[in-house]
Amino acid sequence: MPSASPAAPDTVLVVDFGAQYAQLIARRVREARVYSEIVPSTMPVAEMLAKNPAAIILSGGPSSVYAEGAPSVDRALFEAGVPVFGMCYGFQLMATTLGGTVDNTGAREYGRTGLHVSRSGSTLFEGTPDEQPVWMSHGDACSAAPEGFTVTASTDVVPVAAFENDEKKLYGVQYHPEVMHSTHGQQVLEHFLYRGAGIAPEWTMGNVIEEQVEAIRAKVGNRRAICGLSGGVDSAVAAALVQKAIGPQLTCVYVDHGLMRKGETAQVEKDFVAATGIKLRVVDAEKRFLDALAGVSDPEQKRKIIGREFIRVFEQAQAEIVAEAPGDQPVEFLVQGTLYPDVVESGGGTGTANIKSHHNVGGLPEDLEFTLIEPLRQLFKDEVRMVGAELGLPEEIVHRQPFPGPGLGIRIVGEVTKDRLDLLREADAIAREELTAAGLDRDIWQCPVVLLAEVRSVGVQGDGRTYGHPVVLRPVSSEDAMTADWSRLPYETLARISTRITNEVAEVNRVVLDVTSKPPGTIEWE
Ligand code: XMP
Repeated sequence: MPSASPAAPDTVLVVDFGAQYAQLIARRVREARVYSEIVPSTMPVAEMLAKNPAAIILSGGPSSVYAEGAPSVDRALFEAGVPVFGMCYGFQLMATTLGGTVDNTGAREYGRTGLHVSRSGSTLFEGTPDEQPVWMSHGDACSAAPEGFTVTASTDVVPVAAFENDEKKLYGVQYHPEVMHSTHGQQVLEHFLYRGAGIAPEWTMGNVIEEQVEAIRAKVGNRRAICGLSGGVDSAVAAALVQKAIGPQLTCVYVDHGLMRKGETAQVEKDFVAATGIKLRVVDAEKRFLDALAGVSDPEQKRKIIGREFIRVFEQAQAEIVAEAPGDQPVEFLVQGTLYPDVVESGGGTGTANIKSHHNVGGLPEDLEFTLIEPLRQLFKDEVRMVGAELGLPEEIVHRQPFPGPGLGIRIVGEVTKDRLDLLREADAIAREELTAAGLDRDIWQCPVVLLAEVRSVGVQGDGRTYGHPVVLRPVSSEDAMTADWSRLPYETLARISTRITNEVAEVNRVVLDVTSKPPGTIEWE
Protein backbone atom coordinates (compact mmCIF):
# COMPACT_ATOMS: atom_id res chain seq x y z
CA MET A 1 0.00 0.00 0.00
CA PRO A 2 1.18 3.55 -0.56
CA SER A 3 2.94 5.47 2.11
CA ALA A 4 -0.21 7.42 2.87
CA SER A 5 -2.29 4.47 4.02
CA PRO A 6 -0.91 3.93 7.54
CA ALA A 7 -1.92 7.49 8.34
CA ALA A 8 -5.46 6.87 7.11
CA PRO A 9 -7.93 7.40 9.93
CA ASP A 10 -9.85 4.46 11.33
CA THR A 11 -8.91 1.59 9.08
CA VAL A 12 -11.13 -1.47 8.98
CA LEU A 13 -9.31 -4.65 7.98
CA VAL A 14 -11.28 -7.15 5.93
CA VAL A 15 -9.75 -10.58 6.36
CA ASP A 16 -10.07 -12.48 3.11
CA PHE A 17 -11.08 -16.13 3.40
CA GLY A 18 -11.38 -16.49 -0.35
CA ALA A 19 -14.03 -16.48 -3.06
CA GLN A 20 -13.95 -12.73 -3.58
CA TYR A 21 -16.43 -11.83 -0.86
CA ALA A 22 -13.77 -9.66 0.74
CA GLN A 23 -13.67 -7.17 -2.10
CA LEU A 24 -17.38 -6.58 -1.94
CA ILE A 25 -17.25 -6.15 1.84
CA ALA A 26 -14.41 -3.65 1.49
CA ARG A 27 -16.52 -1.65 -0.97
CA ARG A 28 -19.54 -1.69 1.34
CA VAL A 29 -17.44 -0.45 4.26
CA ARG A 30 -16.22 2.42 2.13
CA GLU A 31 -19.78 3.16 1.04
CA ALA A 32 -20.35 3.67 4.76
CA ARG A 33 -17.53 6.27 4.53
CA VAL A 34 -15.07 4.23 6.54
CA TYR A 35 -11.68 3.33 5.08
CA SER A 36 -11.08 -0.40 4.55
CA GLU A 37 -8.23 -2.62 3.44
CA ILE A 38 -8.20 -6.31 2.51
CA VAL A 39 -5.66 -8.61 4.15
CA PRO A 40 -5.12 -12.34 3.53
CA SER A 41 -6.30 -14.83 6.13
CA THR A 42 -2.73 -16.12 6.28
CA MET A 43 -1.48 -12.84 7.76
CA PRO A 44 -0.39 -13.40 11.38
CA VAL A 45 -2.68 -11.72 13.88
CA ALA A 46 0.22 -9.70 15.30
CA GLU A 47 0.76 -8.20 11.86
CA MET A 48 -2.92 -7.32 11.55
CA LEU A 49 -2.91 -5.67 14.96
CA ALA A 50 0.26 -3.77 14.09
CA LYS A 51 -1.82 -1.93 11.50
CA ASN A 52 -3.78 -0.55 14.40
CA PRO A 53 -7.20 -1.33 12.94
CA ALA A 54 -10.34 0.30 14.28
CA ALA A 55 -12.23 -2.91 13.53
CA ILE A 56 -11.78 -6.24 11.79
CA ILE A 57 -14.25 -8.05 9.54
CA LEU A 58 -13.89 -11.75 8.81
CA SER A 59 -15.23 -12.49 5.32
CA GLY A 60 -17.12 -15.48 4.03
CA GLY A 61 -15.27 -18.15 2.11
CA PRO A 62 -15.81 -21.35 0.22
CA SER A 63 -14.61 -23.78 2.91
CA SER A 64 -16.33 -25.69 5.67
CA VAL A 65 -14.72 -25.03 9.05
CA TYR A 66 -14.36 -28.80 9.31
CA ALA A 67 -12.65 -29.33 5.97
CA GLU A 68 -9.05 -30.42 6.15
CA GLY A 69 -6.73 -27.46 5.67
CA ALA A 70 -9.61 -24.96 6.05
CA PRO A 71 -8.28 -21.53 7.04
CA SER A 72 -8.49 -20.86 10.76
CA VAL A 73 -8.03 -17.84 12.94
CA ASP A 74 -5.88 -17.29 15.99
CA ARG A 75 -7.92 -16.79 19.16
CA ALA A 76 -5.74 -13.77 19.92
CA LEU A 77 -7.65 -11.89 17.24
CA PHE A 78 -10.74 -11.93 19.46
CA GLU A 79 -8.84 -11.00 22.59
CA ALA A 80 -7.11 -7.84 21.44
CA GLY A 81 -9.99 -5.53 22.28
CA VAL A 82 -10.53 -4.72 18.58
CA PRO A 83 -14.19 -5.00 17.49
CA VAL A 84 -14.70 -7.97 15.15
CA PHE A 85 -17.58 -8.81 12.81
CA GLY A 86 -17.69 -12.34 11.36
CA MET A 87 -19.76 -12.99 8.24
CA CYS A 88 -20.71 -16.48 7.03
CA TYR A 89 -17.47 -18.47 7.19
CA GLY A 90 -16.04 -15.74 9.44
CA PHE A 91 -19.07 -16.15 11.72
CA GLN A 92 -18.54 -19.90 12.00
CA LEU A 93 -14.85 -19.43 12.73
CA MET A 94 -15.70 -16.99 15.47
CA ALA A 95 -18.22 -19.47 16.88
CA THR A 96 -15.90 -22.49 16.88
CA THR A 97 -12.81 -20.60 18.02
CA LEU A 98 -14.63 -19.15 21.04
CA GLY A 99 -16.26 -22.41 22.14
CA GLY A 100 -19.63 -22.35 20.37
CA THR A 101 -20.96 -25.30 18.39
CA VAL A 102 -21.05 -25.58 14.63
CA ASP A 103 -22.57 -28.80 13.32
CA ASN A 104 -21.73 -30.41 10.10
CA THR A 105 -25.43 -31.25 9.68
CA GLY A 106 -25.67 -31.31 5.96
CA ALA A 107 -28.50 -28.79 6.42
CA ARG A 108 -27.68 -26.56 3.51
CA GLU A 109 -29.07 -23.14 2.85
CA TYR A 110 -28.29 -21.35 -0.38
CA GLY A 111 -29.75 -18.15 -1.73
CA ARG A 112 -32.55 -16.02 -0.40
CA THR A 113 -33.68 -17.03 3.10
CA GLY A 114 -35.96 -15.53 5.70
CA LEU A 115 -34.15 -14.28 8.81
CA HIS A 116 -36.10 -14.11 12.08
CA VAL A 117 -34.67 -11.40 14.30
CA SER A 118 -35.26 -12.21 17.97
CA ARG A 119 -33.55 -9.18 19.53
CA SER A 120 -34.78 -6.28 17.49
CA GLY A 121 -33.10 -3.71 19.71
CA SER A 122 -29.67 -5.31 19.39
CA THR A 123 -26.59 -3.46 18.23
CA LEU A 124 -26.70 -4.92 14.73
CA PHE A 125 -30.43 -5.17 14.15
CA GLU A 126 -31.87 -2.04 15.71
CA GLY A 127 -34.37 -0.36 13.43
CA THR A 128 -34.53 -3.28 11.01
CA PRO A 129 -37.61 -5.52 10.57
CA ASP A 130 -38.08 -8.68 12.62
CA GLU A 131 -38.45 -10.65 9.40
CA GLN A 132 -35.96 -9.82 6.67
CA PRO A 133 -34.61 -11.53 3.56
CA VAL A 134 -30.93 -12.41 3.67
CA TRP A 135 -28.54 -14.19 1.33
CA MET A 136 -27.21 -17.49 2.65
CA SER A 137 -24.54 -19.80 1.36
CA HIS A 138 -23.46 -22.44 3.84
CA GLY A 139 -23.46 -26.13 4.65
CA ASP A 140 -22.64 -26.13 8.38
CA ALA A 141 -24.91 -24.58 11.00
CA CYS A 142 -24.22 -22.97 14.37
CA SER A 143 -26.37 -24.57 17.09
CA ALA A 144 -24.91 -22.92 20.17
CA ALA A 145 -23.31 -19.50 20.54
CA PRO A 146 -20.10 -19.17 22.58
CA GLU A 147 -20.45 -18.20 26.22
CA GLY A 148 -21.16 -14.55 26.79
CA PHE A 149 -22.89 -14.14 23.42
CA THR A 150 -26.57 -13.35 22.86
CA VAL A 151 -28.32 -15.04 19.97
CA THR A 152 -30.06 -12.30 17.99
CA ALA A 153 -31.52 -14.12 14.96
CA SER A 154 -32.34 -17.53 13.51
CA THR A 155 -33.71 -19.05 10.31
CA ASP A 156 -35.96 -22.07 9.76
CA VAL A 157 -32.83 -24.18 9.36
CA VAL A 158 -30.24 -22.52 11.59
CA PRO A 159 -30.95 -21.90 15.28
CA VAL A 160 -28.10 -19.41 15.64
CA ALA A 161 -27.98 -17.16 12.57
CA ALA A 162 -26.57 -14.11 14.36
CA PHE A 163 -24.99 -13.35 17.72
CA GLU A 164 -23.47 -10.46 19.61
CA ASN A 165 -21.21 -9.90 22.56
CA ASP A 166 -21.43 -6.18 23.21
CA GLU A 167 -19.02 -6.25 26.10
CA LYS A 168 -16.25 -7.74 24.00
CA LYS A 169 -17.43 -5.98 20.82
CA LEU A 170 -17.73 -9.23 18.91
CA TYR A 171 -20.51 -9.71 16.35
CA GLY A 172 -21.41 -12.27 13.76
CA VAL A 173 -24.03 -13.20 11.18
CA GLN A 174 -24.39 -16.46 9.28
CA TYR A 175 -25.46 -14.72 6.07
CA HIS A 176 -23.85 -12.30 3.63
CA PRO A 177 -24.88 -8.76 4.59
CA GLU A 178 -22.65 -7.39 1.80
CA VAL A 179 -24.80 -8.68 -1.07
CA MET A 180 -27.77 -6.70 -2.32
CA HIS A 181 -30.21 -9.54 -1.73
CA SER A 182 -29.74 -9.06 2.02
CA THR A 183 -31.98 -6.03 1.95
CA HIS A 184 -30.91 -4.63 5.34
CA GLY A 185 -27.31 -5.76 5.03
CA GLN A 186 -25.80 -2.31 4.60
CA GLN A 187 -27.71 -1.05 7.65
CA VAL A 188 -26.45 -4.00 9.71
CA LEU A 189 -22.89 -3.38 8.54
CA GLU A 190 -23.17 0.31 9.40
CA HIS A 191 -24.54 -0.58 12.84
CA PHE A 192 -21.43 -2.66 13.40
CA LEU A 193 -19.13 0.12 12.24
CA TYR A 194 -20.81 3.07 13.94
CA ARG A 195 -22.45 1.51 17.00
CA GLY A 196 -20.42 -1.64 17.61
CA ALA A 197 -16.98 -0.30 16.76
CA GLY A 198 -17.73 3.38 17.41
CA ILE A 199 -16.19 4.55 14.13
CA ALA A 200 -17.43 7.82 12.68
CA PRO A 201 -18.27 7.99 8.96
CA GLU A 202 -15.59 10.49 8.09
CA TRP A 203 -13.63 9.00 5.24
CA THR A 204 -14.09 11.17 2.16
CA MET A 205 -12.46 11.74 -1.17
CA GLY A 206 -11.28 15.08 0.19
CA ASN A 207 -9.17 13.19 2.76
CA VAL A 208 -7.78 10.95 0.05
CA ILE A 209 -6.68 13.90 -2.05
CA GLU A 210 -5.02 15.68 0.85
CA GLU A 211 -3.19 12.55 1.99
CA GLN A 212 -2.01 11.69 -1.49
CA VAL A 213 -0.86 15.20 -2.33
CA GLU A 214 1.25 15.25 0.81
CA ALA A 215 2.65 11.76 0.21
CA ILE A 216 3.51 12.52 -3.43
CA ARG A 217 5.27 15.77 -2.52
CA ALA A 218 7.34 13.98 0.11
CA LYS A 219 8.27 11.24 -2.31
CA VAL A 220 9.13 13.31 -5.37
CA GLY A 221 10.79 16.33 -3.76
CA ASN A 222 12.10 18.56 -6.54
CA ARG A 223 12.61 15.78 -9.08
CA ARG A 224 10.37 15.15 -12.08
CA ALA A 225 7.69 12.68 -13.10
CA ILE A 226 6.01 11.57 -16.29
CA CYS A 227 2.65 10.01 -16.86
CA GLY A 228 1.19 8.15 -19.80
CA LEU A 229 -2.34 9.36 -20.48
CA SER A 230 -4.68 6.93 -22.21
CA GLY A 231 -7.76 9.11 -22.25
CA GLY A 232 -9.31 6.77 -19.68
CA VAL A 233 -10.53 7.97 -16.31
CA ASP A 234 -7.84 6.23 -14.23
CA SER A 235 -4.78 7.77 -15.84
CA ALA A 236 -6.55 11.14 -16.09
CA VAL A 237 -7.36 11.23 -12.38
CA ALA A 238 -3.91 9.93 -11.39
CA ALA A 239 -2.29 12.65 -13.50
CA ALA A 240 -4.55 15.37 -12.10
CA LEU A 241 -3.74 14.30 -8.57
CA VAL A 242 0.00 14.31 -9.19
CA GLN A 243 -0.30 17.64 -10.99
CA LYS A 244 -1.99 19.07 -7.90
CA ALA A 245 0.94 17.86 -5.83
CA ILE A 246 3.95 18.78 -7.97
CA GLY A 247 2.60 21.02 -10.76
CA PRO A 248 5.11 21.66 -13.56
CA GLN A 249 7.43 18.87 -12.39
CA LEU A 250 4.97 16.53 -14.13
CA THR A 251 4.81 16.01 -17.89
CA CYS A 252 2.09 13.87 -19.44
CA VAL A 253 2.54 11.91 -22.62
CA TYR A 254 -0.47 11.00 -24.71
CA VAL A 255 0.26 8.51 -27.46
CA ASP A 256 -2.32 8.86 -30.23
CA HIS A 257 -2.07 5.41 -31.76
CA GLY A 258 -4.97 5.99 -34.13
CA LEU A 259 -7.05 3.44 -32.23
CA MET A 260 -8.86 6.06 -30.17
CA ARG A 261 -12.55 6.80 -30.28
CA LYS A 262 -13.96 9.79 -32.10
CA GLY A 263 -13.12 13.08 -30.40
CA GLU A 264 -10.96 11.44 -27.76
CA THR A 265 -7.66 13.08 -28.61
CA ALA A 266 -9.25 16.49 -28.85
CA GLN A 267 -10.89 15.97 -25.47
CA VAL A 268 -7.57 15.20 -23.82
CA GLU A 269 -5.75 18.00 -25.65
CA LYS A 270 -8.33 20.67 -24.87
CA ASP A 271 -10.68 19.87 -21.99
CA PHE A 272 -8.25 17.96 -19.83
CA VAL A 273 -5.45 20.48 -20.22
CA ALA A 274 -7.86 23.36 -19.63
CA ALA A 275 -9.14 21.78 -16.41
CA THR A 276 -5.76 20.84 -14.96
CA GLY A 277 -3.11 23.05 -16.56
CA ILE A 278 -1.07 19.92 -17.14
CA LYS A 279 2.00 19.99 -19.38
CA LEU A 280 1.04 17.65 -22.19
CA ARG A 281 2.96 16.14 -25.05
CA VAL A 282 0.79 14.53 -27.73
CA VAL A 283 2.59 12.10 -30.00
CA ASP A 284 0.88 11.38 -33.30
CA ALA A 285 1.86 7.77 -33.91
CA GLU A 286 -1.08 6.59 -36.00
CA LYS A 287 0.95 5.61 -39.04
CA ARG A 288 3.48 3.73 -37.00
CA PHE A 289 0.82 1.64 -35.25
CA LEU A 290 -1.21 0.94 -38.38
CA ASP A 291 1.90 -0.10 -40.30
CA ALA A 292 2.85 -2.47 -37.51
CA LEU A 293 -0.68 -3.91 -37.40
CA ALA A 294 -1.01 -4.44 -41.15
CA GLY A 295 -1.98 -7.99 -42.04
CA VAL A 296 -2.47 -9.09 -38.40
CA SER A 297 -5.79 -10.49 -37.21
CA ASP A 298 -4.83 -12.67 -34.24
CA PRO A 299 -6.00 -10.86 -31.08
CA GLU A 300 -3.02 -11.72 -28.88
CA GLN A 301 -0.61 -10.69 -31.59
CA LYS A 302 -2.45 -7.40 -32.02
CA ARG A 303 -2.20 -6.76 -28.30
CA LYS A 304 1.51 -7.53 -28.31
CA ILE A 305 2.21 -5.25 -31.26
CA ILE A 306 0.23 -2.39 -29.74
CA GLY A 307 2.00 -2.86 -26.40
CA ARG A 308 5.43 -2.96 -28.01
CA GLU A 309 4.89 0.11 -30.18
CA PHE A 310 3.42 1.96 -27.22
CA ILE A 311 6.56 1.37 -25.21
CA ARG A 312 8.80 2.52 -28.01
CA VAL A 313 6.90 5.74 -28.54
CA PHE A 314 6.70 6.36 -24.84
CA GLU A 315 10.43 5.82 -24.31
CA GLN A 316 11.21 8.14 -27.18
CA ALA A 317 9.00 10.86 -25.70
CA GLN A 318 10.65 10.38 -22.35
CA ALA A 319 14.15 10.75 -23.88
CA GLU A 320 13.01 13.94 -25.58
CA ILE A 321 11.65 15.38 -22.36
CA VAL A 322 14.99 14.75 -20.66
CA ALA A 323 16.97 16.09 -23.64
CA GLU A 324 14.97 19.30 -23.79
CA ALA A 325 15.96 20.33 -20.28
CA PRO A 326 19.20 18.46 -19.55
CA GLY A 327 20.23 20.65 -16.64
CA ASP A 328 16.92 20.13 -14.92
CA GLN A 329 16.17 17.64 -12.18
CA PRO A 330 16.07 13.99 -13.32
CA VAL A 331 12.86 12.36 -14.51
CA GLU A 332 12.68 9.61 -11.98
CA PHE A 333 9.01 8.85 -11.46
CA LEU A 334 6.32 7.25 -13.54
CA VAL A 335 2.67 7.87 -12.62
CA GLN A 336 0.27 4.99 -13.14
CA GLY A 337 -3.48 4.76 -12.61
CA THR A 338 -3.42 1.37 -10.89
CA LEU A 339 -6.65 0.75 -8.95
CA TYR A 340 -7.36 -1.31 -5.86
CA PRO A 341 -9.01 -4.20 -7.75
CA ASP A 342 -5.83 -4.42 -9.89
CA VAL A 343 -3.77 -4.66 -6.72
CA VAL A 344 -6.06 -7.27 -5.19
CA GLU A 345 -6.43 -9.29 -8.40
CA SER A 346 -2.73 -9.45 -9.05
CA GLY A 347 -2.31 -10.78 -5.53
CA GLY A 348 -0.57 -7.59 -4.37
CA GLY A 349 -0.59 -7.36 -0.63
CA THR A 350 -3.41 -9.82 -0.14
CA GLY A 351 -1.97 -13.24 -0.76
CA THR A 352 -4.95 -14.12 -2.95
CA ALA A 353 -4.32 -16.00 -6.16
CA ASN A 354 -3.54 -14.08 -9.29
CA ILE A 355 -6.91 -13.99 -11.02
CA LYS A 356 -5.93 -11.99 -14.06
CA SER A 357 -2.82 -10.14 -15.01
CA HIS A 358 -3.20 -6.48 -14.46
CA HIS A 359 -4.21 -4.42 -17.49
CA ASN A 360 -2.30 -1.20 -17.21
CA VAL A 361 -2.30 1.92 -19.33
CA GLY A 362 -0.36 0.60 -22.25
CA GLY A 363 1.61 -2.31 -20.95
CA LEU A 364 4.71 -0.42 -19.85
CA PRO A 365 7.63 -2.79 -19.36
CA GLU A 366 8.95 -3.72 -15.95
CA ASP A 367 12.51 -2.77 -16.82
CA LEU A 368 11.64 0.89 -17.36
CA GLU A 369 13.87 2.56 -14.85
CA PHE A 370 11.34 4.51 -12.91
CA THR A 371 9.98 4.63 -9.43
CA LEU A 372 6.22 4.22 -9.64
CA ILE A 373 3.71 6.66 -8.25
CA GLU A 374 0.30 5.00 -8.01
CA PRO A 375 -1.95 7.43 -6.16
CA LEU A 376 -5.14 5.43 -6.83
CA ARG A 377 -3.88 2.11 -5.45
CA GLN A 378 -6.34 2.27 -2.57
CA LEU A 379 -9.41 3.14 -4.62
CA PHE A 380 -12.25 1.46 -6.46
CA LYS A 381 -13.42 2.82 -9.79
CA ASP A 382 -16.40 4.74 -8.44
CA GLU A 383 -14.13 6.36 -5.85
CA VAL A 384 -11.69 7.35 -8.59
CA ARG A 385 -14.55 9.11 -10.35
CA MET A 386 -15.40 10.96 -7.13
CA VAL A 387 -11.77 12.06 -6.75
CA GLY A 388 -11.78 13.22 -10.38
CA ALA A 389 -14.93 15.25 -9.84
CA GLU A 390 -13.48 16.77 -6.67
CA LEU A 391 -10.35 17.74 -8.61
CA GLY A 392 -12.53 19.59 -11.12
CA LEU A 393 -12.08 17.29 -14.10
CA PRO A 394 -14.74 17.65 -16.81
CA GLU A 395 -17.80 15.44 -16.51
CA GLU A 396 -17.08 13.78 -19.87
CA ILE A 397 -13.74 12.54 -18.58
CA VAL A 398 -14.87 11.56 -15.10
CA HIS A 399 -17.89 9.61 -16.26
CA ARG A 400 -16.58 8.13 -19.46
CA GLN A 401 -16.79 4.40 -19.92
CA PRO A 402 -13.72 2.27 -19.25
CA PHE A 403 -11.79 1.93 -22.49
CA PRO A 404 -9.05 -0.65 -23.08
CA GLY A 405 -5.46 0.51 -23.59
CA PRO A 406 -5.23 -1.19 -27.02
CA GLY A 407 -8.32 0.80 -27.98
CA LEU A 408 -10.45 0.03 -31.00
CA GLY A 409 -7.67 -2.29 -32.14
CA ILE A 410 -9.26 -5.04 -30.04
CA ARG A 411 -12.81 -4.11 -31.07
CA ILE A 412 -12.26 -5.04 -34.70
CA VAL A 413 -12.47 -8.78 -35.14
CA GLY A 414 -10.04 -9.24 -37.99
CA GLU A 415 -7.30 -7.06 -39.41
CA VAL A 416 -7.12 -3.46 -38.20
CA THR A 417 -7.07 -0.92 -41.02
CA LYS A 418 -7.65 2.81 -41.17
CA ASP A 419 -10.91 2.41 -43.10
CA ARG A 420 -12.28 -0.09 -40.62
CA LEU A 421 -11.24 2.11 -37.70
CA ASP A 422 -12.99 5.12 -39.24
CA LEU A 423 -16.11 3.07 -39.72
CA LEU A 424 -16.06 1.72 -36.17
CA ARG A 425 -15.36 5.19 -34.77
CA GLU A 426 -18.55 6.47 -36.42
CA ALA A 427 -20.66 3.57 -35.16
CA ASP A 428 -19.21 3.88 -31.65
CA ALA A 429 -19.82 7.64 -31.56
CA ILE A 430 -23.48 7.11 -32.52
CA ALA A 431 -23.98 4.48 -29.81
CA ARG A 432 -22.37 6.72 -27.21
CA GLU A 433 -24.40 9.74 -28.28
CA GLU A 434 -27.68 7.85 -28.06
CA LEU A 435 -26.87 6.27 -24.70
CA THR A 436 -26.02 9.70 -23.31
CA ALA A 437 -29.15 11.24 -24.83
CA ALA A 438 -31.24 8.50 -23.21
CA GLY A 439 -29.63 9.26 -19.84
CA LEU A 440 -28.24 5.75 -19.57
CA ASP A 441 -24.55 6.49 -19.02
CA ARG A 442 -24.70 5.88 -15.29
CA ASP A 443 -26.75 2.69 -15.71
CA ILE A 444 -24.23 0.82 -17.77
CA TRP A 445 -20.61 0.03 -17.05
CA GLN A 446 -19.58 0.26 -20.68
CA CYS A 447 -20.86 -0.53 -24.13
CA PRO A 448 -18.20 -1.72 -26.52
CA VAL A 449 -19.20 -1.51 -30.18
CA VAL A 450 -17.48 -4.28 -32.11
CA LEU A 451 -16.92 -4.50 -35.85
CA LEU A 452 -17.03 -8.00 -37.32
CA ALA A 453 -14.76 -6.99 -40.14
CA GLU A 454 -14.46 -10.39 -41.68
CA VAL A 455 -18.16 -11.18 -41.71
CA ARG A 456 -20.45 -9.94 -44.45
CA SER A 457 -24.13 -10.53 -44.90
CA VAL A 458 -26.77 -9.60 -47.40
CA GLY A 459 -29.04 -6.69 -46.73
CA VAL A 460 -31.29 -4.35 -48.62
CA GLN A 461 -31.16 -0.58 -48.57
CA GLY A 462 -33.26 1.65 -50.77
CA ASP A 463 -33.76 -0.45 -53.87
CA GLY A 464 -30.41 -2.11 -53.71
CA ARG A 465 -28.92 -5.24 -52.30
CA THR A 466 -26.04 -4.63 -49.87
CA TYR A 467 -23.27 -6.90 -48.68
CA GLY A 468 -22.04 -5.22 -45.52
CA HIS A 469 -20.56 -5.88 -42.10
CA PRO A 470 -22.40 -6.38 -38.80
CA VAL A 471 -21.53 -4.42 -35.69
CA VAL A 472 -22.21 -5.83 -32.24
CA LEU A 473 -23.45 -3.76 -29.30
CA ARG A 474 -22.11 -5.10 -26.02
CA PRO A 475 -23.75 -3.07 -23.23
CA VAL A 476 -22.87 -4.49 -19.83
CA SER A 477 -23.56 -3.67 -16.23
CA SER A 478 -20.90 -4.50 -13.68
CA GLU A 479 -19.38 -3.34 -10.43
CA ASP A 480 -15.76 -4.04 -11.25
CA ALA A 481 -15.57 -5.73 -14.69
CA MET A 482 -14.62 -9.03 -13.06
CA THR A 483 -18.12 -10.28 -13.69
CA ALA A 484 -20.80 -8.59 -15.76
CA ASP A 485 -24.31 -9.01 -17.01
CA TRP A 486 -25.70 -7.74 -20.30
CA SER A 487 -27.66 -4.55 -19.77
CA ARG A 488 -31.38 -4.61 -20.49
CA LEU A 489 -31.41 -1.40 -22.50
CA PRO A 490 -34.79 0.03 -23.53
CA TYR A 491 -35.86 -1.20 -26.97
CA GLU A 492 -36.40 2.39 -28.15
CA THR A 493 -32.76 3.24 -27.46
CA LEU A 494 -31.54 0.09 -29.17
CA ALA A 495 -33.80 0.84 -32.11
CA ARG A 496 -32.47 4.38 -32.44
CA ILE A 497 -28.86 3.21 -32.29
CA SER A 498 -29.54 0.52 -34.87
CA THR A 499 -31.37 2.83 -37.27
CA ARG A 500 -28.76 5.53 -37.04
CA ILE A 501 -25.79 3.22 -37.47
CA THR A 502 -27.22 1.45 -40.51
CA ASN A 503 -28.30 4.76 -42.06
CA GLU A 504 -25.21 6.77 -41.28
CA VAL A 505 -22.36 4.29 -41.47
CA ALA A 506 -21.81 3.03 -44.98
CA GLU A 507 -20.71 -0.60 -45.08
CA VAL A 508 -22.68 -1.56 -41.95
CA ASN A 509 -26.01 -3.23 -42.71
CA ARG A 510 -26.73 -5.03 -39.45
CA VAL A 511 -26.60 -4.18 -35.74
CA VAL A 512 -26.74 -7.12 -33.32
CA LEU A 513 -26.97 -7.23 -29.54
CA ASP A 514 -24.71 -9.41 -27.38
CA VAL A 515 -26.80 -11.03 -24.62
CA THR A 516 -24.01 -12.99 -22.92
CA SER A 517 -22.99 -12.49 -19.30
CA LYS A 518 -19.38 -12.61 -18.06
CA PRO A 519 -18.55 -15.41 -17.48
CA PRO A 520 -18.76 -17.13 -19.89
CA GLY A 521 -18.15 -14.22 -22.30
CA THR A 522 -15.58 -11.51 -21.65
CA ILE A 523 -16.62 -7.90 -22.04
CA GLU A 524 -14.40 -7.18 -25.03
CA TRP A 525 -14.63 -9.39 -28.11
CA GLU A 526 -11.01 -8.87 -29.31
P1 XMP B 1 -12.66 -8.30 -20.40
O1 XMP B 1 -12.76 -8.22 -21.89
O2 XMP B 1 -11.44 -9.03 -19.92
O3 XMP B 1 -12.49 -6.81 -19.90
O4 XMP B 1 -13.92 -8.80 -19.76
C1 XMP B 1 -12.57 -6.40 -18.57
C2 XMP B 1 -12.38 -4.89 -18.52
O5 XMP B 1 -11.03 -4.54 -18.83
C3 XMP B 1 -10.99 -3.67 -19.96
N1 XMP B 1 -9.80 -4.06 -20.72
C4 XMP B 1 -8.64 -3.39 -20.72
N2 XMP B 1 -8.28 -2.24 -20.09
N3 XMP B 1 -6.12 -2.39 -21.04
C5 XMP B 1 -7.02 -1.74 -20.28
O6 XMP B 1 -6.70 -0.68 -19.76
C6 XMP B 1 -6.39 -3.55 -21.68
O7 XMP B 1 -5.55 -4.12 -22.36
C7 XMP B 1 -7.74 -4.07 -21.52
N4 XMP B 1 -8.38 -5.17 -22.00
C8 XMP B 1 -9.65 -5.14 -21.49
C9 XMP B 1 -12.30 -3.89 -20.66
O8 XMP B 1 -12.68 -2.75 -21.44
C10 XMP B 1 -13.24 -4.14 -19.52
O9 XMP B 1 -13.62 -2.93 -18.88
